[in-house]
Amino acid sequence: MSISLKVAHGKSEILIERDVRNRLIQHANLDRKVLVLCDDGIPYEYVETVRKQCGIPFVKIIPHGEKSKSLNMVEELCAFMVQKSFGKEDLVLAVGGGVVGDLGGFIASIYLGGIDVISLPTTTLSQIDSSIGGKTAVNFAGAKNMVGTFYQPSKVFIDLNTLSTLTRRQYYSGIVEALKAGLIRDPRLFDLFVNNKVDFAEEIPPADLEEVIERSLYVKRDVVEEDEKEEGVRKILNFGHTIGHAIESLYMGKYYHGECVGLGMLIVLENEKLRKQVKEILKKMDMPTYVEFTVEELIPYITKDKKFDGEKISLVQVDTVGKAYIKEVDLDWMKRHLEEYKK
Ligand SMILES: NC(=O)c1ccc[n+]([C@@H]2O[C@H](COP(=O)([O-])OP(=O)(O)OC[C@H]3O[C@@H](n4cnc5c(N)ncnc54)[C@H](O)[C@@H]3O)[C@@H](O)[C@H]2O)c1
Repeated sequence: MSISLKVAHGKSEILIERDVRNRLIQHANLDRKVLVLCDDGIPYEYVETVRKQCGIPFVKIIPHGEKSKSLNMVEELCAFMVQKSFGKEDLVLAVGGGVVGDLGGFIASIYLGGIDVISLPTTTLSQIDSSIGGKTAVNFAGAKNMVGTFYQPSKVFIDLNTLSTLTRRQYYSGIVEALKAGLIRDPRLFDLFVNNKVDFAEEIPPADLEEVIERSLYVKRDVVEEDEKEEGVRKILNFGHTIGHAIESLYMGKYYHGECVGLGMLIVLENEKLRKQVKEILKKMDMPTYVEFTVEELIPYITKDKKFDGEKISLVQVDTVGKAYIKEVDLDWMKRHLEEYKK
């Protein structure tokens, strides 16, 4: 199964196929210098499988986690490519989650003004969301994703079987992004969650995951094709993220990104029925539906967000499944809403 994404500044071919990691060479030109970028948390078996298929491979293993998304790391990797005489025709192949993908995409976009990048995302979050759409970034000056580019990978290989080595918590944290995709754009996808068509069983990845992943990717593809650079409709992909990011920062990594997005959606939803449904779904995935915070400690993180202009916050809201819109709220609204949630 493959999906194409085309925007003014590039195009991607997204291939969804179990075990495709063993067959990359059938779908991409790997007969060149390839920087295989991965982190030290990814099972090495995946990296080795990829390495063996490359003509002239150079494997770079960076420390896992957000700290690697830094300009220092960008400099180190670019210096390495210069040292190994990487040219315009060579390739960055990112094997891993969103951290490796964002970093790999960023260095490919700036090295020699831009070289080819291919991605093999290995977390649910990166397969559903971060590996497509071309947003690349590193953290800077204490703020997340402060420096970045828009740069499409030529190919994205989605191998659901790489998810088998994730913990249940990591796995479902990523699935929250699929729930978000359903809420903002795809009622049928949301129904899969409501009607227990999503397999919440112990086995990961479940046998029928394809529809969830494919539908999520179509949502992201369609939104990105409409608005590549997040000047308009692409903002709806941030549903749940304003409060989610604030909780993520407040707890400094205790909760995973998807867990915080789930909480962020739950807190923001004003449609009572929808909020109950989302809460039930999050519970089935063992995702948190309540965390402790005081309004005073959360607000500073919300006002730091780029969606706050000094007076109003541009919040994504969903009242009817599939119809997300931007709602301008002031700080009083936000405070009242956070107090409500705590009751
Ligand atoms: N570019 C975008 O559009 C976009 C969208 C959403 C999120 N993001 C970014 O994505 C990042 C988060 O991505 P993530 O959730 O994938 O986290 P991650 O990349 O940090 O991966 C999480 C952990 O899982 C490990 N791992 C990866 N694959 C594995 C596997 N198959 N089996 C076992 N362990 C594995 C990694 O080593 C890491 O320790 C954040 O930096 C966020 O800003 C980017």
